[in-house]
Amino acid sequence: MTETEQTGLAGIIVGDTALSTVGKAGIGLTYRGYDIHELAASATFEEVAYLLIYRELPSESELKTYCSRLVALRAIPNELKLLLETMPGSAHPMDVLRTGISLLGTLEPESTKHSAYQIADRLIACAPSILLYWYQFYRNNKRLDITQYADKTTADFFLHALTGKKPEQEQGRALDVALILYAEHEFNASTFAARVTISTGSDFYSAVVSAIGTLRGPLHGGANEEAMRLIASFQMPNLVEATIKSMLVDKVKIMGFGHRVYKISDPRSDVVKAWVETLSKNSSEAPLFDIAQGIEKVMWREKKLFPNLDFYSALLFHFCDIPTLLFTPIFVMSRLSGWSAHILEQRAHNRLIRPEAKYIGMEKRSFKSLKDRTSATSTK
Ligand SMILES: CC(C)(COP(=O)(O)OP(=O)(O)OC[C@H]1O[C@@H](n2cnc3c(N)ncnc32)[C@H](O)[C@@H]1OP(=O)(O)O)[C@@H](O)C(=O)NCCC(=O)NCCS
Repeated sequence: MTETEQTGLAGIIVGDTALSTVGKAGIGLTYRGYDIHELAASATFEEVAYLLIYRELPSESELKTYCSRLVALRAIPNELKLLLETMPGSAHPMDVLRTGISLLGTLEPESTKHSAYQIADRLIACAPSILLYWYQFYRNNKRLDITQYADKTTADFFLHALTGKKPEQEQGRALDVALILYAEHEFNASTFAARVTISTGSDFYSAVVSAIGTLRGPLHGGANEEAMRLIASFQMPNLVEATIKSMLVDKVKIMGFGHRVYKISDPRSDVVKAWVETLSKNSSEAPLFDIAQGIEKVMWREKKLFPNLDFYSALLFHFCDIPTLLFTPIFVMSRLSGWSAHILEQRAHNRLIRPEAKYIGMEKRSFKSLKDRTSATSTK
């Protein structure tokens, strides 16, 4: 691997943003200047989405109007339902979301009728509907009637439409907090992908589809699903130590640990962990929390690696009765707010994003006619 490949753009500033600070000394993680801890303690996901997209926290009446708008935008068109019924039940839900949103882009394309702000609201409102319509159709043989759910928050609506029962207050709020923490994180890979796409003059949906494809990978959004599988693979906390140590010896990456920007801790992790502890008290699977803490202890002692947002979020989602397969799509439901804000910001100060590469290939050489060439595979 060359030196340039090794950097993976680490530490390189590639643009300006007024949206968030990540790991800035003395500032920490903020969204438009507000500390993430204060937002997680006192705001709802809808307030945070509004803050990111419309630049300021909403007043009481603005919030009321915004929440009613999101509720009204949850229903999905029949053409989209048909597509969701056509997709295989074995598909990964990230592919379902990516494809569903892409189809919506043909039914409600960006235009004077559907402005960028309207699309941002629409996608935040209907991403859970797309996901759950497909999920209920295949898993429970049911066509979800979205209009029957009047839940005010995205978190409550998601849990209600998923499980068929109104969520416990603690579960609804725990998911709400997770959505706040997942909403925005500066120039992470998926956000950067969205900004690159929009910088070419492309449309809103294309940027979001690029972002979903980028988030899907296990080194980014997919880590929460892998973290859950790891935690659930242990029957007892006392089995953790030896297994994790041997995985580390084998150079296996433990999903949900480490971070490109944070070096000592992820400020979101403790907030999520506290919610997991609360939820575990009412769960028959409380030992999973001890197992997770055991993994955290070994990872820190052996490698000085700390849990990132994905590690304890996995358990938070699990204690909210959410199937593991839907964990990464929840990341999408939330990050749509951050992506939308970045798309708007990139457009407002656009210059095509087009970096350069260091060439490491062949010296310049003469063209060989077909008859003079030896087989390319025989030279390998
Ligand atoms: C997030 C992540 C991609 C950051 O990667 P990065 O800055 O490129 O760091 P690297 O992958 O180069 O890791 C540096 C070293 O730490 C080790 N390391 C980093 N994360 C690790 C993990 N989760 N488990 C085990 N070892 C890890 C690497 O193996 C490497 O060790 P080496 O120098 O002996 O080869 C990386 O920590 C990771 O893959 N974590 C797991 C996936 C995850 O949780 N993603 C969600 C991120 S929010």
